[in-house]
Parts: sequence; structure tokens; C-alpha cells
Amino acid sequence: MKISWNDFVEECRNCQACPLSKTRKNVVIYRGSVVAPIMFVGEGPGANEDEQGLPFVGQAGQLLQLLLDAQGFSMEDFHIANVVKCRPPENRVPTEAEAKTCKVLLGKQILISKPKIIVLLGKTAYTLFTGDKMAKMTEIRGKFFEKNGYYILPTFHPAYILRNNNERIKLWKDIALVREKAEELGLMKPLPSAPDMPTARPSGK
Ligand code: URA
Repeated sequence: MKISWNDFVEECRNCQACPLSKTRKNVVIYRGSVVAPIMFVGEGPGANEDEQGLPFVGQAGQLLQLLLDAQGFSMEDFHIANVVKCRPPENRVPTEAEAKTCKVLLGKQILISKPKIIVLLGKTAYTLFTGDKMAKMTEIRGKFFEKNGYYILPTFHPAYILRNNNERIKLWKDIALVREKAEELGLMKPLPSAPDMPTARPSGK
């Protein structure tokens, strides 16, 4: 059954399927483009996101946006969502039950957004998509795998990078890989290369 974006948003806003609905200020659904070739999936809204009703608008979001800008992604290229749409109190990790309950909505969101590439930001998103609870991000990040027709890339959560600044280059490289894959799949055009440096005129002319 096809569901419209407006009906989907309505369903999210009315959702009371888990206890997070009782403490939320806003249901945080997405930012970017409704339909987009690339989807980023984080963990869950923090205080800023809960306040504004938009994902990744706090410090971690600013870092993510910085990297997206640096790689030349525009709003039409991505759709940013989370494993859960309501803020877990004290910013705790969503429970397995909360994540599984909200997965129904994320599944519908993916069907509407139709991404080709899905970027999993951190362990919570990775576990939701693969069922693997034991994986170490340091080992699985930066490697694409295919599942159900999607190209999936696990990488570090930007909040982790804020706490471990020495790892920043790895998130940078992974976002660059996303750009590379999007170009390879014909989802984005290559960035124009920098113009050649003007050569010095031969002397005497
Ligand atoms: N961290 C997340 O995982 N998601 C957000 O939206 C913000 C911070």
C-alpha cells in the first residue's frame, strides 16, 4: 500500500507506540529533501532537536553539516532521519524495544524517500539495520555493503567524533566515500575540478 508523505507525517505526530512519546516536545522526522538519493540515519533526537522538531541541529548536527557542505552535498541530495523520532530522556541510547517499535516508521520513511545509499551514523543505527550487536565501529566503518538493494555505509556518529577529535579524519573520509559512491551510481554529478593554475608567461613576450 502506498502512503503519502503527509499521511506519514500525521502518523508520526500521532504516534504513542512507545514511552518516548510521553516526554517528547516534538516528533523529529527529517531534514533535507523528502525524496533523496542518500539517507543518513542517526540515533535519536537530543534536546535541540526535540525543541526544534528537526534532526541534527545541535553540535553533532553542525559537524555533520560542515562535512556535507565540504563534500558539496546540497539539500536535494540527502534526507536525514533517526532510529527513533522522539528524544530519549537524558539523551540515553534508545532501548531495543523503542528502536524496534520506531523501525516500522523508519521503514515507511525509507519507502517514501527512496534512497539508494543509506549512511548509518553510529552503532545504534548499525545494530538496527543488521541485528549485529557485537560489531565494533572501528572495524566496520568506511566499508559499503549491499542489503535489500541499498548501498549501506556504516560510519562514526558525529557526536562520537566531537568527543574523539583525533578520529575526525575518518568521518571526513567516509563522507567523501559517500560522495564517490553517489557519483559512481550516477546520483550526483562530479564536482568541477579546480581550474588549472595560470602558467607564468615566458619571459620576453
Ligand atoms: N544525534 C542523533 O543521533 N540524532 C540527532 O538528530 C541529533 C543528535
